[in-house]
Amino acid sequence: MRNVQTEVSVEERTCLFDIIGAYFEYGMTVAFTAIGRAVAGRPIMVLLYSAALVAVLSWGIKSLEVITDPVELWSSPNSRGRMEKEYYDSQFEPFFRSEQLIIKAIGYDSVKHPDSGEVWGPAFNQSFFLDVFDLTNYLQEKLRAPWGSDLHETNETVGLADVCFAPLKPDNHKCAVQSAFQYFQNSRAKIGNRNSFWRTLDTCAVSNHVQLDCLGDFGGPVDPKLAFGGYLKDPKAGLERANITAFVALFTLDLRRQENNRLDVFCCVQGEKREKHGATEGVLYKIFKE
Ligand SMILES: *[C@@H]1O[C@H](CO)[C@@H](O)[C@H](O)[C@H]1NC(C)=O
Ligand SMILES: *[C@@H]1O[C@H](CO)[C@@H](O)[C@H](O)[C@H]1NC(C)=O
Ligand SMILES: *[C@@H]1O[C@H](CO)[C@@H](O)[C@H](O)[C@H]1NC(C)=O
Repeated sequence: MRNVQTEVSVEERTCLFDIIGAYFEYGMTVAFTAIGRAVAGRPIMVLLYSAALVAVLSWGIKSLEVITDPVELWSSPNSRGRMEKEYYDSQFEPFFRSEQLIIKAIGYDSVKHPDSGEVWGPAFNQSFFLDVFDLTNYLQEKLRAPWGSDLHETNETVGLADVCFAPLKPDNHKCAVQSAFQYFQNSRAKIGNRNSFWRTLDTCAVSNHVQLDCLGDFGGPVDPKLAFGGYLKDPKAGLERANITAFVALFTLDLRRQENNRLDVFCCVQGEKREKHGATEGVLYKIFKE
């Protein structure tokens, strides 16, 4: 009994839908026939009116702005990265570029700390330290390239200090160079003295690099992880300082000034024990001159 009833109700519903469908179709036919007749009867009027309607509706194109800046396109104004970049840009000048000079102590033996007897990496050989200091000091202070539209008449020159980032300007014109020599405030006498050499390294490179005595001559601290290279991948495998072989000096250039001067420093040099000076200065000088 139930089955029969179900079939009946399905049939009834089908009938109802057919009726609705038929009315709908009839209504559509009538309406579109009327529209078709009206349009075909006055073609020019219809074309004019629809052209006018399209023109009115497209009026907004006038104020359409095409966004091509990838930062605007791909990052939300509320995204963390975007907000941090904006904060950075508002605190510093838009972009600073860093240039690295990497010098490796090849052929030097590890050194023993005179007090504790710990083994430190070859980069801490004092005479090597002094040699590298002379090289970076030369780059920072003495290396100058001719500059100017008319070289022979003005004899103008430009050096790193003219294009570098100096955070405390105009009170302090020293460049923010992140090198180990900043622990000694770039003083050759302090590096050359055996006692102050080890005392400063103990204080600044090992215990706390943000102490006042360890600040660089540009007025800021230098992270030992930036100033030295060659740390072990796994610090637990041995004394952290025992395998340091390289020096990393990070020069920060102020891109805005650089754009005015069109100057560049790019160097990644490996210094050998003996021919270090002649070779590296030649290469650097040429690149710097470009
Ligand atoms: C540093 O290196 C020089 C040259 O190789 C060497 O004569 C000197 O003994 C080394 N100094 C130390 C403390 O190992
Ligand atoms: C520039 O240097 C050249 C060569 O050293 C010299 O002859 C010339 O007088 C200098 N010009 C000026 C303006 O100092
Ligand atoms: C690190 O230095 C120690 C002592 O000089 C040496 O025995 C060890 O092989 C070095 N490890 C690596 C990975 O260079």
